[in-house]
Amino acid sequence: MPSLARAEEAAQPFRFAHLTDIHVQPELSAGEGFRKCLASVNALEKRPEVIVTGGDMVMDIFAHNRQRADQLFSLYGDVVKGETDIPFRSCIGNHDVFGWSHRQDVKPEDAEFGKGLVCEKLGLEKTYYAFDQGGWRFYILDDIQMAPNNRYQAYLEEEQFEWLKKDLEEKPAETPAVVVSHIPIYTVSTFDNGREEDLAYRVGFSAMCREAAKLGNLFSKHNVKLALSGHHHILERIEFQGVTYICGGAVSGGWWRGPHRGVQEGFGLVDLNPNGTFDYEYVDYGWTPVT
Ligand SMILES: [Fe+2]
Repeated sequence: MPSLARAEEAAQPFRFAHLTDIHVQPELSAGEGFRKCLASVNALEKRPEVIVTGGDMVMDIFAHNRQRADQLFSLYGDVVKGETDIPFRSCIGNHDVFGWSHRQDVKPEDAEFGKGLVCEKLGLEKTYYAFDQGGWRFYILDDIQMAPNNRYQAYLEEEQFEWLKKDLEEKPAETPAVVVSHIPIYTVSTFDNGREEDLAYRVGFSAMCREAAKLGNLFSKHNVKLALSGHHHILERIEFQGVTYICGGAVSGGWWRGPHRGVQEGFGLVDLNPNGTFDYEYVDYGWTPVT
């Protein structure tokens, strides 16, 4: 390729789609909804080069049995295979973790327990990883960690945090980065029930990342421009310390029962520019709930 053409190609924005909170299930025609979403991604005049999921691919294996898990992932896989050849990069959510509720017949020592099953089903070597595309570095994080009483909380365990820190430090400083996690690093969406007796708001660790400032400071030091999340099925955009935090709606809207807090069933379309800026658009793919 002549160098001019190569330079022009390098100057083109890199487009990807962010599909979060899909919650595939046989009920409420969710499989059809997901199909329609992927058809809409495919039909875009400029097709995304990769689809990055934001977690909660299925509904749900946290508290359901193996039979249900197999059924959900086979529906998920069939829809993906049947509808698009765009490569996927997966980020996991709390609903993709198996057995932590201890309501299933699976033991912690079983390979499928916790994140083992979703890794097996989606062919993931690890639940957190990095890759380079379009002149940007992507960090897919896994902020779903076990909490007492069969629950979960959001943070990066030490090994993952150290890996992220090291990779960011070794990354060329001029390379911009995008981070994807399921539970937001920062969100204001749960600051709506302050307690008078505490003279404070209360934000659960399952709603926003524990030690958010530790991650936020790291991002702002290392040219992370965009942090995408899901989990709350809302649309939210926070600009803080040079980083844009976007909670990117939900493919399933309100868990396939209609829009949630004014947000339609949709997905994020992101154009990453070579100069470190980006454009984000939330696309309503036109699903009508079947209830
Ligand atoms: Fe969700």
